[in-house]
Amino acid sequence: MTAQAGICAEPNLHAYYLFFNILPGRHAEVRNKLKTVPALWRELASGFPDAAFSGLVAIGNESWDELYPQARPSELTAFPAQGEGERSAPETPFDLFFQLRADRLDVAYIGVQRVMTLLAGLAELKDERQGFRYLDSRDMTGFVDGTENPQGEDRAAVALVADGPFTGGSHLHVQRYHHRMARWQKLALKAQEDIYGRTKDDNIEYASADKPLTAHTRRTSLKDAEGRSMEILRQSMPWGSATEQGLVFVSCCRTPLHFTRMLESMYQKDGDGHFDLLTLFTQPRTGAAFFAPSEEWLLS
Ligand code: HEM
Repeated sequence: MTAQAGICAEPNLHAYYLFFNILPGRHAEVRNKLKTVPALWRELASGFPDAAFSGLVAIGNESWDELYPQARPSELTAFPAQGEGERSAPETPFDLFFQLRADRLDVAYIGVQRVMTLLAGLAELKDERQGFRYLDSRDMTGFVDGTENPQGEDRAAVALVADGPFTGGSHLHVQRYHHRMARWQKLALKAQEDIYGRTKDDNIEYASADKPLTAHTRRTSLKDAEGRSMEILRQSMPWGSATEQGLVFVSCCRTPLHFTRMLESMYQKDGDGHFDLLTLFTQPRTGAAFFAPSEEWLLS
């Protein structure tokens, strides 16, 4: 089975993220249109070899059954919303998610136009965001993001379903975070570093004993009952307008369980009342669960 290239792609300079809802009664037509998507990804990748283009389409939890009634990934469920009020991670379902990435903005944008043409009259664009590499792959809070991501062959081992009818597919969770920059910038450097458990300028991980129980990297480093690391592949990128900025957070994994446990660990207080302090400084406005099937599945 051939995984869509955008799942395990190496980091790029530019991205567009498009979120659609399918118009009533149009699912069969959308399914037919999605059959042409693998060829579109290949055309753009081979047509602009210097751009390192990769594409990805993922199907929302709520639209899967109408698009593909014959079978459903057994673990595909709703986005695991967390918290309430100021410190919350809401669920905002979408039917389709497209991630178009390249080292050339124009090539990624050609991808956007092609997708818009493909779905014209069939689906409504509900949200769009342009992502970009900020400095040396930093988040807008100023910290390098992605350092502990799986590398090389581990990317596929973490991100892709390895057996059964959905081999080569991936469970995606996507959130649009808005940073509270004014609040973040009031923190002293050491307080910011404690929140991540890493140093800012040179991106050095704290020694384990020095990592606060509230540190983002501590709360997202989880193990299962057998002591194995529960990993995800993060494909997030910063976004920004003149007045707002944040992160489009994208998690790809062979199971939705790892992301779910991490998000719970970030938002829910443990027995001692600790939670991930990063959640005080950035707020997700969207959150949706998707499955990105293999190219063969899209063609079926
Ligand atoms: C705006 C939101 C977020 C920001 C700015 C952010 C930023 C960062 C940064 C700077 C690091 C340290 C460097 C690295 O290893 O990449 C990190 C690590 C990590 N983050 Fe996030 N993150 C965000 C949300 C999330 C969410 C929602 C999850 C999962 C539910 C998550 C999971 C992880 C994991 C698994 C690591 C690696 C931990 C380790 O092994 O050290 N992050 N993040």
